[in-house]
Amino acid sequence: MKTKIINAPDLHKAASRQKGETLFKSASILHKQESQSLLNGKKYYIRTYGCQANVRDEETMRGLLEDIGMWQIDKPEEADVIIINTCAVRENAEDKVYGEVGNLKILRKKNKKLVLAICGCMVEQPEILERLMKTFPEINLFFGTHEIDQLYDLLYQTLTSEERIVSIESKAGEVIEGLPSARNNHYKAYVDIIYGCNKFCTYCIVPYTRGKERSRHFSDIIKECQNLIDMGYQEITLLGQNVNAYGKDLDEGKDFADLLEAVAKLGIPRLRFTTSHPWDFSSKMIDIIAKYPNICKFIHLPVQSGNDEILKIMGRRYTREQYLNLVKEMRAKIPGLSLSTDIIVGFPNETEEQFNDTVSLVDIVKYEAAYTFIYSPRKGTPAARMEDNVSYDEKVRRFKILVQHLEKNIEKHSESLVGKVVDILVDGPSKTDPNMLSGYTDENKLVHFPGDSSLIGTITKVKIISSHTYSMMGELYRG
Ligand code: SAH
Ligand code: SF4
Ligand code: F3S
Repeated sequence: MKTKIINAPDLHKAASRQKGETLFKSASILHKQESQSLLNGKKYYIRTYGCQANVRDEETMRGLLEDIGMWQIDKPEEADVIIINTCAVRENAEDKVYGEVGNLKILRKKNKKLVLAICGCMVEQPEILERLMKTFPEINLFFGTHEIDQLYDLLYQTLTSEERIVSIESKAGEVIEGLPSARNNHYKAYVDIIYGCNKFCTYCIVPYTRGKERSRHFSDIIKECQNLIDMGYQEITLLGQNVNAYGKDLDEGKDFADLLEAVAKLGIPRLRFTTSHPWDFSSKMIDIIAKYPNICKFIHLPVQSGNDEILKIMGRRYTREQYLNLVKEMRAKIPGLSLSTDIIVGFPNETEEQFNDTVSLVDIVKYEAAYTFIYSPRKGTPAARMEDNVSYDEKVRRFKILVQHLEKNIEKHSESLVGKVVDILVDGPSKTDPNMLSGYTDENKLVHFPGDSSLIGTITKVKIISSHTYSMMGELYRG
């Protein structure tokens, strides 16, 4: 099969952060009618890996596909269009995609008309794209994170030509408004507020795959949130790789604290946000979180390491002391605050002593939740070019020690909730026991409890009766 390359990724271009205004565009409808006549009534299967940015992109793609009359199914064997929306943040995220495409490729042999598409962050890396193209000649469409709005045109081109289509433009990125959206959940919604990332932490591929930091207009975000409230949504999560940077690239005179306050005032029962970089988390933000009862008392504040030298080489822009002071201010001003974090173990040449600084920081902060990762070199990032004298086995050993420290506190915190009555936004039947319901507390703890399915989508009072490390059991409170 011949390949038609409309655009190919280029890490150098992806890293460029030229000053200049962000282009605000409305959605492209090129070849919408044509793809509708080819795909109306047909079925699609979509699988998303990675962070909430990808989940939100999936909702946009589903919106586009459903707008032309396509149906979502969960059996790829019956699909006319298969989309695998990938993540590149660590090697294991990529391995899952190789495994899945390996299983799906046979479907293309059986059905020559099938569109087998790969999109998302993996294909933004030239070497990965090349490997995918070589390994899987069955994939007939590749598109990047900046091409989602062109989905109709790309599907039309794939279906009407004998060539495989590659459209991945490495660029700073635009803000595209007016795209349809089929949200995955009817009670909880993600709302993008800022795209991309300018931080360039030395280990991270995200700034290369997602383009520059660019904020949506304040009024567009407020409009979207108001619509969600009108539709009965109970929870909104404001999304960005670094939400604190919101507004800095616009001259609307609004920052993230202003946005948070304005959305809280709209009256959504629960308001969350993710992710916050410790570097520009302002006191004004802390005050707003403390002031509004509907802003969840839960902050995800990735620390990555507790050692100043490592933080510096990571390019994180804060010291251990600055981080700890920020935590102190948060805990003092926001009663009942739950803190979670991300930590990378085994950054290149991390010494035992430097690792112990991370362990001691964890013991001081006493996180209520945490995600720990073993460092994974990402081609094209500065850290991947560093020599590394720490063996993988040693990284695994440290990882286990760190998890033990984290879990000790997480368990203690969960135990302290036993006997308390908490508000749960009920998600649905529990994944492990369909006779139970499950949902999350304001501070993001998972709770399972017996109850009627009519409670799904409501905020319900539940008494905690027992705790495990990562979840709790409860019963309906009828006090
Ligand atoms: N923008 C967010 C999330 C980025 S990715 C933030 O800055 O917090 C989510 C997490 O993945 C990061 O916080 C980091 O802990 C981890 N991560 C990123 N690159 C990694 C790498 N190369 N190896 C291991 N973990 C990584
Ligand atoms: Fe990656 Fe750092 Fe940006 Fe987060 S802030 S996405 S870790 S570069
Ligand atoms: Fe993964 Fe891309 Fe998100 S690399 S973590 S899906 S921004």
